[in-house]
Amino acid sequence: MSAAVEIISLDAPVADAALDQLADVLVDCVEGGASVSFMSPFSNEDALAFFRKVAGSVATGNTVLLAARLDGKIVGTVQLGLDTPPNQPHRADIKKLLVHRSARGHGVGAILMAQVEEEARRRGRWLLVLDTVPDENGHRLYLRAGWKQTGLVPDYALFPDGRLCDTAIMWKRLAR
Ligand SMILES: CC(C)(COP(=O)(O)OP(=O)(O)OC[C@H]1O[C@@H](n2cnc3c(N)ncnc32)[C@H](O)[C@@H]1OP(=O)(O)O)[C@@H](O)C(=O)NCCC(=O)NCCS
Repeated sequence: MSAAVEIISLDAPVADAALDQLADVLVDCVEGGASVSFMSPFSNEDALAFFRKVAGSVATGNTVLLAARLDGKIVGTVQLGLDTPPNQPHRADIKKLLVHRSARGHGVGAILMAQVEEEARRRGRWLLVLDTVPDENGHRLYLRAGWKQTGLVPDYALFPDGRLCDTAIMWKRLAR
């Protein structure tokens, strides 16, 4: 499948059609039980509101928003957060790596990560940080992609159904 996947950068203004498709991906991930900031029940409107905010951040240059398209439809996304303090000009945050359940297990997540790391490198952001639930799909993907785990915070957040989950703090230094 990966050969047919197209990674695009969604620049400002992000089209409504793209926001709708991103919202569908987020709703599917939350319905699938992913701990990605939101609780169940989580509506399409909630998801749209979230991505409208992200689009605002894209417009101010604080976020790079990537989407993975399969047959013209967005099935995955990831963000590069550039809004770091003045003393961290070389660092960026990876946020909200999401792939619709219907498209998982074919390398879409890995391709999104490779591309977002390239976007970071091009901007001189050679140190990346993220947090993720240990032993879940994302955690395995990051370890495969050479990310290091620096620690674990117990009971950091909730799954959508209300159960507590730990978070692993991870980082990756990119070749400059
Ligand atoms: C984490 C997530 C983005 C991974 O997306 P994905 O597109 O399925 O990722 P990949 O396809 O690159 O890797 C997933 C699995 O498919 C395998 N895979 C990749 N390409 C493959 C291929 N061509 N054929 C068979 N298997 C393949 C990988 O080895 C991996 O195996 P694993 O589950 O044993 O670790 C997705 O599970 C998701 O959206 N989860 C919910 C949201 C979430 O938790 N995000 C992380 C927040 S930090």
